Amino acid sequence: MTHTFFPSQGRSRDDVLAALLDSKSSDLKADGRAFAFVYDAGDELRDLAREAYAACMGINGLDPTVYPSARVIETGVASACLELLNAPPGAAGTATAGGTESVMLAVKTARDHAGKKSPKMLLPETAHACFHKAAHYLGIEVVMVDVDPTSFRADVADARAKMDDDVILVVGSAPSYAHGVIDPIEELAALALEYGAWMHVDACVGGCVLPFMDDVPPFDFRVPGVMSLSMDLHKYGFAPKGISMMLLRDGALREAQYFACATWSGYAIVNSTTLGSKSIAATASAWVLIQHLGRDGYRSRVTSMWDATTRMVAAIDRLDGVEMVGRPDMNLFAFKTTDGDVFDLADRLTECGWHVQPTYAYGRSPAHIHLTVDPGNAAHASAFLADLERCLTDLPPEQAPPAAVVAMLGMLGQGGNTGLDAGMLMKQLGITNGKLPTQSATIHRIINAAPPKTREALLKLFIGELFS
Ligand SMILES: Cc1ncc(COP(=O)(O)O)c(C=O)c1O
Repeated sequence: MTHTFFPSQGRSRDDVLAALLDSKSSDLKADGRAFAFVYDAGDELRDLAREAYAACMGINGLDPTVYPSARVIETGVASACLELLNAPPGAAGTATAGGTESVMLAVKTARDHAGKKSPKMLLPETAHACFHKAAHYLGIEVVMVDVDPTSFRADVADARAKMDDDVILVVGSAPSYAHGVIDPIEELAALALEYGAWMHVDACVGGCVLPFMDDVPPFDFRVPGVMSLSMDLHKYGFAPKGISMMLLRDGALREAQYFACATWSGYAIVNSTTLGSKSIAATASAWVLIQHLGRDGYRSRVTSMWDATTRMVAAIDRLDGVEMVGRPDMNLFAFKTTDGDVFDLADRLTECGWHVQPTYAYGRSPAHIHLTVDPGNAAHASAFLADLERCLTDLPPEQAPPAAVVAMLGMLGQGGNTGLDAGMLMKQLGITNGKLPTQSATIHRIINAAPPKTREALLKLFIGELFS
């Protein structure tokens, strides 16, 4: 019998490593031309992080009595983050696998702490999708809060109008991912306090940046009522993927975060996160980076990213045919086209070798291009702006998506089996081996035109097909 995927005889070390590296050949590169996904601070720091990662990849945080280093490393990172975000004595932090897991734990802790029968959360429409995921997993009703259509900050008056005794949690972002703006955290937290609700600040993308910027409004534990923050070291902490912090004002509240189980026949279980076995490798990388860079090291990188961002924003303000969507409080932002099709512009930028994030319209936010600026991008900002200006020349006018495909997709998102052949659909859209074609404006126009439920159904079809 031939075994295609799990070979009968082992292959040589060189052979398998070459195959592995080959599989990465068309991946997004950390070369300064990617304005999304990549948070890279250069070769030297990447090498340091890699060494720490390799040295600690066998450590299982599941049992810190067997691996005492897991406790030392995790509490080392937690203490540094708590100190950076001005936590009071008695505060506590937990290492998680990422922002989504930190948010999941914050929502669970708030829910179990409140102990309400029909819990709700107030969620600005700019908050990260992971709050919707947490609500879905944890049985919490989401009450959407409006945002200002110009600043894209949460509308506190709307939050107040929607507040009631079942609201257990108010969420604010510092900043939001799409537009890079900080919500009015002090006012939202005061509202939460007034009603005895929990305030969570999502500082997943801002936690390692905002403390090193000037004139940032208070967003952390200095704000009364802020009970928890999420902060990702695998973003602007520059650590490899797999490390975020869930930070709590009062460590005693972790009882509602933990899970213990003594009703089975195996070893004693107590988990601080949703994971059981828990790699400590990325946490170790974060620890060495914090210790090696220190506050000065992070500050200098934040300054250079912010300089590049302000130059890019000023250029977008100056250029005809594009316009900012909100004004960022840190180094990630959104802009749209005022003349011409935004998805065609994204295609043109892709052809010039840039990776940008075409983003669909939702709520008050129009279809736009999102850019996340990392230290590697700073040196490429001028080249990007020159290409942007060139790409805007004779940009085709905004186009409607093909009506037949939109009609076909209308079947999706209405529940039940539509009988749609996902493979065929992907083929028609030009998606092969999971990669969008370079010219993907048509696909984006189609998805942008579809209602959210249809988009969600399409995304599920897509991922199912990708991993089949
Ligand atoms: C503001 C914000 N919150 C939460 C998340 C989710 O983080 P992760 O992808 O690490 O789960 C992100 C990711 O970009 C984010 O920007």
